[in-house]
Amino acid sequence: MGVSLRAWSLADAPELARICNNKKVQDNLRDGLPFPYGEEDAKVFLSEVLAADPDQNIAFAIETDGRLIGSISASRCGNIHFRTAELGYYLGEPYWGKGYATEAVRLLCGYVFSRTDIIRVFAEPFAYNLASCRVLEKAGFQLEGVLRSNAVKNGRILDMKLYSRLREDQN
Ligand SMILES: CC(C)(COP(=O)(O)OP(=O)(O)OC[C@H]1O[C@@H](n2cnc3c(N)ncnc32)[C@H](O)[C@@H]1OP(=O)(O)O)[C@@H](O)C(=O)NCCC(=O)NCCS
Repeated sequence: MGVSLRAWSLADAPELARICNNKKVQDNLRDGLPFPYGEEDAKVFLSEVLAADPDQNIAFAIETDGRLIGSISASRCGNIHFRTAELGYYLGEPYWGKGYATEAVRLLCGYVFSRTDIIRVFAEPFAYNLASCRVLEKAGFQLEGVLRSNAVKNGRILDMKLYSRLREDQN
């Protein structure tokens, strides 16, 4: 069963809360999500996404077989970087290891490069997050370098990796 990307809806709040109320998911993301994460937190996120400029924050729900399984977005940067966007994604833990994230990243890149003027999509996974690095490699991203001691997460100083895919890259 393949994955598809679709617009968010406020009705996604209960399932989104189940996905995000998981330390194993949150430990691989930037800080800022509450923990525990409840339906009210999901509603706040969904209201913000639905109110955002869709050319600035390109955000989709990931689903398979009609079920919400995760989130993916490309956020346009500012100033001289206005034609670049940062990619972010996560899946609920039951859906890991099935190729879904790779497919979602490919679909998002296809959308971004065909429907917007963005020329570069980049991602900065924690270097230890081998699954996420592998997702990016499988989806045609190139490793540009290691960002040494670029973050402090849960009290640990962490390296991150910088990956990008350009409009003209083949995949
Ligand atoms: C990272 C994440 C998105 C991966 O999603 P996924 O659907 O399981 O990814 P895929 O199945 O498409 O691909 C995972 C790849 O990583 C590999 N992998 C998984 N764990 C690994 C590990 N510990 N070491 C090396 N490779 C690993 C898998 O074997 C697979 O590669 P393969 O197809 O060559 O075998 C998912 O685990 C997740 O949501 N994690 C929490 C949030 C997160 O990390 N988000 C990304 C932030 S940058």
